Amino acid sequence: MVNVRLIPSADPTGARDPAFPQGIIPACMPETRVNTTIRTASPADESGLGELESSCFDEDRRSSPRSLKRSLSSPSQVVRVIDRAAAGSPASAGLAAAAIYWLYPRSLRLYSVAVCRESRGAGLGRLLVADAFREARERGLCRVVLEADQANAALVRWYESQGFVVTRQLPSYYAHGRHAVRMSCPVT
Ligand SMILES: CC(C)(COP(=O)(O)OP(=O)(O)OC[C@H]1O[C@@H](n2cnc3c(N)ncnc32)[C@H](O)[C@@H]1OP(=O)(O)O)[C@@H](O)C(=O)NCCC(=O)NCCS
Repeated sequence: MVNVRLIPSADPTGARDPAFPQGIIPACMPETRVNTTIRTASPADESGLGELESSCFDEDRRSSPRSLKRSLSSPSQVVRVIDRAAAGSPASAGLAAAAIYWLYPRSLRLYSVAVCRESRGAGLGRLLVADAFREARERGLCRVVLEADQANAALVRWYESQGFVVTRQLPSYYAHGRHAVRMSCPVT
């Protein structure tokens, strides 16, 4: 089990937690023993998010700069990031990972999770999924939902290993012939 303490996104500075006045709350990943932090993105992260999008997604699946800007300012979206420096990456500038959550009346939609290539397999993706559940729980939401590329069996299995089940097929969701599945997991 991953033991994570995260900076609540409603309070990006973390200043309300007297134990962590700088807003830096360590998250210990048992597999790697790497300490890291997840923080809420600010407008200054726009270019870092763009770089991550380019390195993680095919062109037709990337969020546009405009869409990223909207995600950073919209009250119904939350953008959470892990800095390269916090992830122990040799390249200290920029973002190692990011997730975008969309907030609905009863559910949180995990719109995107992206981890830069050199930081994959270290548990950052799972930390961001755990963070989405924390966010949903704190907001009193019932479930976390997402869409995943049906052709990416490793990705679907990865979500299943974290409690998600396929609830719907979404034919030609991304483009003609590129199907998705909707997955859902209750917030307990
Ligand atoms: C999917 C993703 C976020 C996982 O991040 P991560 O930090 O490497 O994940 P973790 O370290 O927590 O877990 C690693 C596991 O994910 C598996 N995995 C899931 N999806 C994968 C994918 N698309 N490619 C490679 N490995 C994947 C790995 O096989 C590994 O399995 P293991 O633990 O049995 O070895 C990352 O591979 C990524 O950014 N992919 C590109 C963007 C993407 O497809 N995002 C998801 C849809 S929005």
